[in-house]
Amino acid sequence: MRIETLAVHAGFAPDPTTGAVAPPLHLSTTFARDRDGVPLGGHVYVRESNPTQDALEAALAPLEGGAAALAFASGMAAGAALLQALPKGSHVVLPDDVYYGYRVAGVDFFREWGIETSSAAMEKVDSLRGAIRRETRLVWIETPSNPLMKVVDVAAAVSAAHEAGALAVVDNTFATPVLQRPLELGADVALHSTTKYFGGHSDVQGGALVFRSRDPFFERVLHARHVLGAVSSPFNSWLVLRGVRSLAVRVAAQSATALKVAEALAAHPAVARVNYPGLPGHPGHEAARRQMKAFGGMLSFHAAGGRDAALRAVGRAELFVRATSLGGVESLIEHRATSEGPASTTPQDLVRLSIGLEHADDLIADLQNALSG
Ligand SMILES: Cc1ncc(COP(=O)(O)O)c(C=O)c1O
Repeated sequence: MRIETLAVHAGFAPDPTTGAVAPPLHLSTTFARDRDGVPLGGHVYVRESNPTQDALEAALAPLEGGAAALAFASGMAAGAALLQALPKGSHVVLPDDVYYGYRVAGVDFFREWGIETSSAAMEKVDSLRGAIRRETRLVWIETPSNPLMKVVDVAAAVSAAHEAGALAVVDNTFATPVLQRPLELGADVALHSTTKYFGGHSDVQGGALVFRSRDPFFERVLHARHVLGAVSSPFNSWLVLRGVRSLAVRVAAQSATALKVAEALAAHPAVARVNYPGLPGHPGHEAARRQMKAFGGMLSFHAAGGRDAALRAVGRAELFVRATSLGGVESLIEHRATSEGPASTTPQDLVRLSIGLEHADDLIADLQNALSG
């Protein structure tokens, strides 16, 4: 089945008791047992499992081509649960342009949990190989990366991880399974901030992990979610599931518009460089063409006039909303280093864009006006 059809039908069935086509939202925190103590519907307590979260997971697993999915309260919670399931003394290789929150978590928390991290420029597989140690248990891949839009050759990075006996996880938040399916490229786990494209409307926070197999590592992460509690609430599960149904058309439209925006920015004299894997000059263009169906709705650019010019352009935007996050129907613009805060390593001249569902011409006109000031 094609991804457009899967997005609509994965895990879908009309409610058997009412015939409702839209999935029911079960808010119950606790579930009844029969006289012999057997749970009537297979659920016991909301933190362990619940029907609305199950419905979301039943949609997510086939979308990524995985054996099982776990929904979480946020993308950060999903990533943390992965790390919490690793044995003490594990070493994890993170990309040098890993999403800011995970970098902060590595410094502020993972070390205290007994997990060492180091970073590698994973777009060069030799850099990844050089960072792998005897204790490496996990290689964390993010492609395209946030916010530099670096592209990692997933199959090559996964091979390097597996040769060292490590698991490979791919943060697939920017691409979504509509454009890129990491498990088919050999990865063990696909990670998502479902706050972004899955939710799609800037109104729900969530995270997800999709596993290639229901193996002991999956069971450990499931146990971590149950006991440590980073579950997706029923309402959030329901909202993310609603977003999944239109994911494929939104991402296709956002990708097509982003390419036009990237081309227009690349031709603008006030722009020093555009980071978008769809542009032939991008260093990861060939790898992106091999492993992605289109290049996604995210891009960033460097203002020719440096930090002040970047801040000025952000301040002059009218249609783009000045806000962080991504993947919603409305286009967003941000000075990324300001959003990330003092520990940011993002270049000061960088502006990040999340392309929404507006017409490309209107977005380009807005940016041209913002950059002309
Ligand atoms: C690529 C990427 N991964 C993970 C996250 C974390 O997700 P959340 O904000 O849902 O915790 C983000 C958030 O911006 C992200 O951009």
